[in-house]
Amino acid sequence: MNILLFGASGTAGGAVLQACMDAPVVNEVRAIVRRPLGWTDAKLWEIVHADFLNYAPVADAFRGVDACLFCLGISVTQVSKEEFVKISHDFPVAAAKMLLAASSAAAFHYISGAGTRAESSTFWSKVKGETENELMELAGAVCWRPAFIDAAPSASIPRIYAAMRPMLRLLKPFRSFYVDGEDLGRAMLQATRENMRRRVIENAEIREIAGRF
Ligand SMILES: NC(=O)c1ccc[n+]([C@@H]2O[C@H](COP(=O)([O-])OP(=O)(O)OC[C@H]3O[C@@H](n4cnc5c(N)ncnc54)[C@H](OP(=O)(O)O)[C@@H]3O)[C@@H](O)[C@H]2O)c1
Repeated sequence: MNILLFGASGTAGGAVLQACMDAPVVNEVRAIVRRPLGWTDAKLWEIVHADFLNYAPVADAFRGVDACLFCLGISVTQVSKEEFVKISHDFPVAAAKMLLAASSAAAFHYISGAGTRAESSTFWSKVKGETENELMELAGAVCWRPAFIDAAPSASIPRIYAAMRPMLRLLKPFRSFYVDGEDLGRAMLQATRENMRRRVIENAEIREIAGRF
């Protein structure tokens, strides 16, 4: 498989990248990043890019891929509402459109998060829920709703996440509340192998799918 990855420098995306690097089924990972990852590997093609609303300059990276794993995102506490909509909705929709044009059979995977609901009165939940619906309509997207993702905290994640990680790891036995970050990556690869489309996947099912990998 050839995988296109967004958010590789992040907490979720870093673990998903590791899962892809470790998976023999993956031939190549193309990571679109705004800063170099500082990591070289024969399987990794790093593409440094600035404008996440326009992928025309990096169109080659979208050709011949089996799946796009969109792990880029931000907490609503870190940016303005306008910026949150741009990052959580406009960026993935632009990526999905480019993927459709360049690799029409490829799967698009979008990480939203537990608690996402299009009908919600909570701003972030509604934005992500509406984005899920739009991506499922546009590209048959598979939408992932992890709860706590256990992975090495990135430089950008809110500090509270890193501080609470030891406590949150106690949630491991509870299938609806905890997922290992690399299991999330393995579940995305397995879903690609199983040709899943147009689905919302809650945390417990992420663990089930990873178990089939
Ligand atoms: N962590 C969890 O437990 C968890 C649970 C459920 C859902 N989620 C969701 O998963 C997604 C990723 O979360 P995370 O925890 O991995 O966050 P993170 O550690 O802060 O990583 C965010 C990633 O998105 C990139 N990014 C953010 N803003 C960007 C921008 N304006 N332009 C280009 N790239 C940008 C970052 O790149 P830079 O490194 O260049 O900043 C980084 O790769 C979010 O939507 C989050 O809500 C996370």
